[in-house]
Amino acid sequence: MKRFENKSAFVTGAGGYIGSVTAKMLAAEGAKVGVCDINEETCAQTVRAITEAGGTAIAVPADVRDSASVDAAVAKTVAAFGGLDIMVHVAGGSARKDIKCLADQSDEVILRVLGVNLLGGIWTSRAAARIMREQGRERGGRIVNISSLVGVNGLWGCTDYAASKGGIMSMTKALAKEMGPFGVTVNSVAPGCVQRPGTGADDSDYALKTNFLGKKCEATDIAETILFLCSAAARFVTGQTWIVDGGRGLGMKGTDC
Ligand SMILES: NC(=O)c1ccc[n+]([C@@H]2O[C@H](COP(=O)([O-])OP(=O)(O)OC[C@H]3O[C@@H](n4cnc5c(N)ncnc54)[C@H](O)[C@@H]3O)[C@@H](O)[C@H]2O)c1
Repeated sequence: MKRFENKSAFVTGAGGYIGSVTAKMLAAEGAKVGVCDINEETCAQTVRAITEAGGTAIAVPADVRDSASVDAAVAKTVAAFGGLDIMVHVAGGSARKDIKCLADQSDEVILRVLGVNLLGGIWTSRAAARIMREQGRERGGRIVNISSLVGVNGLWGCTDYAASKGGIMSMTKALAKEMGPFGVTVNSVAPGCVQRPGTGADDSDYALKTNFLGKKCEATDIAETILFLCSAAARFVTGQTWIVDGGRGLGMKGTDC
């Protein structure tokens, strides 16, 4: 029997690098996946990849900054697959080309970063919590949000991003306390630097320099941890942030990371 046979999952950012790999790996292990992203085209690509590989998925595009949009996407997943067992919020990112120190940052960029990373995590987690609580303790559930090592240690030019990812870690602890009695675990995963293909800077040696293992972190490294936290094997793990960074957060490597 596959690890997630008969499970219904909802994954945001599932048109992106880490999210698409997570959705595909969940589907390969038997989960039926509601594939959510603001980008309808990449959403459809992930659904196609899953179905061509013999899995089950539907596209449920949404803007995670908007609670009504999130609720509708989750409701479609629940209706299609008969409930919800797993919610993974991956959508997000830093200000990227607009990175600036906070004193110079615009309202628009700050609201975008906090909106996708933190409010997106709150809206998706709330939608999942409502459904999982209703389904009852026996069925239980798994909620996983993506944080970042930047939320642990901070990073110049990423104060907005650090606040959003730190918020995810705090939310994880509080929601774990609320949802434990309903058999639902709530955790987050904090990647260090993940090698995203095809994006200049991330193709450099930076991803190699920023860890102690001498290799680049790939989406599968993050997705494997997410899948573990969503599995029956992690039934007693809740309220935690799992750092997956090749030791980067330990510091003292002699570089500026
Ligand atoms: N790549 C890294 O080095 C790294 C490190 C630490 C944390 N993370 C976190 O991992 C997550 C995924 O990163 P990635 O590298 O796969 O990035 P990515 O850009 O490949 O994927 C992010 C996805 O989120 C989607 N998205 C953006 N705004 C959205 C919105 N409003 N509503 C719905 N979807 C939206 C995008 O369309 C995209 O498909 C992010 O939360 C990021 O902060 C990444």
